[in-house]
Amino acid sequence: MNQAQLLAALAPEIEAINRALEANLTTHVPFISQVGRHILLSGGKRVRPLLFVLSARLCGCRSNHLADFSTIFEYLHAATLLHDDVVDAATVRRGTSTANTIWGNQAVILVGDFLLAKALSLAVTTDRLKVLQVLAHATTMMAEGEILQLLHARNLDLTEEEYFEVIHRKTAVLMSAACQIGAIVSGAPPEQEEALARFGLNLGLTFQLVDDILDFTGDERQLGKPVANDLKEGRITLPFIAALKRADEAGRRRLRELAREVRPEHAGEIRDLLESCGALEYARGLARKYTRAAQDHLRLFPECPEKGYFWGITEMLLARTS
Ligand code: IPE
Ligand code: IPE
Ligand code: MG
Ligand code: MG
Repeated sequence: MNQAQLLAALAPEIEAINRALEANLTTHVPFISQVGRHILLSGGKRVRPLLFVLSARLCGCRSNHLADFSTIFEYLHAATLLHDDVVDAATVRRGTSTANTIWGNQAVILVGDFLLAKALSLAVTTDRLKVLQVLAHATTMMAEGEILQLLHARNLDLTEEEYFEVIHRKTAVLMSAACQIGAIVSGAPPEQEEALARFGLNLGLTFQLVDDILDFTGDERQLGKPVANDLKEGRITLPFIAALKRADEAGRRRLRELAREVRPEHAGEIRDLLESCGALEYARGLARKYTRAAQDHLRLFPECPEKGYFWGITEMLLARTS
C-alpha cells in the first residue's frame, strides 16, 4: 500500500475525527473556541487520534463513539502545542502564525489549560478508571519531559540517554497512551494492550527523532516552521549530540561555536557538518531501529486492514518530510 492509498483509506476516519473535534469544542466563552479552532483547525496530521481509533479497531472494537473519544488525544496534543509554542517563543507553526503571536502568551496558556481540562472531561465519559490512570500517568510524564528539556537547554554535554529520557516523556508517552487506551476501551486482553502500548512508544520515539532530524535537514516551506530552530532555541537534539561525538576537532569546535548563536544563514553549514561526520545517518539509523521495534509489536495481531494501516503509518512517519 503506497502513501496515497493509505491516506485515502484513512480519509473517512480523519473526517470523523475532524467533525468530532469541532463538535466537542463546546464552551461558554467564545474566545476559547476562537483560539481553540485556530490550533485545532490549522492542518494537524491527527496522528494521535488516528492511533487511538486504529488501535481500538485492531482489537475488534466496533463502537461508534471512537471518533468522540479520539478527540481526547488531539485536545491534549493541542494543549501541549499551545504551551510549547509559548515556552519556545515560536512564531510559526504549520505555516501559519502561532496563537501566542496573535493573542499573546497569557490568553494562550489559559486556553491550553482549557483544552487539557476538556481532554480529561472527555476521558471521564469512557467510564473506565484504567483510561484515567493511563492518561494521568501520560500527562504527568509529558509535563516532566518539557520541564527536563527546559533544564537541559543549551547543555552541550547532554548525553544520548538524557535526550531519550526527554523525548520518551514529551512525545512518545502520549502516542503510547493513545494506542493503549484504544485497547482498553475495546476490552482487549492484557497482552494486546501491552503490545499496543509498546508499539505506540516506539512509534513516538521514531516520530520525535525524525522531527529532530528534519529540524536540520528540512525545508522551511514544507515543514511549516523555521529550520535549525531547535538549536537556536537551545534544544540539543540527537543529531547534534552525535555530531559532537563524531566530528573531528575542528568540526567540534565550529559546532560549539555555532550553537552559541544560530543565525538563519548558518542552517546550511550546520546541516553539512552534521551530514559529513555521519551524525544524520546515525540518527536515521536509530529512527529505523525504533520503527522496526514498533512493527515487531504488531506481530501478535492477525492480518486485517487496521494492521496494514498501522504498518503503513510506521513507514510513512519514518519517511516523512514535513
Ligand atoms: C508536533 O507534533 C510536536 C512533536 C511531537 C514534534 P505533530 O507533528 O504531530 O503535530 P501536528 O498536529 O501534525 O501539526
Ligand atoms: C514538541 O516539542 C512538542 C511536544 C511534544 C510537547 P518541540 O518543541 O520539539 O516541537 P515543535 O518543533 O515545536 O513542533
Ligand atoms: Mg516547539
Ligand atoms: Mg518545545
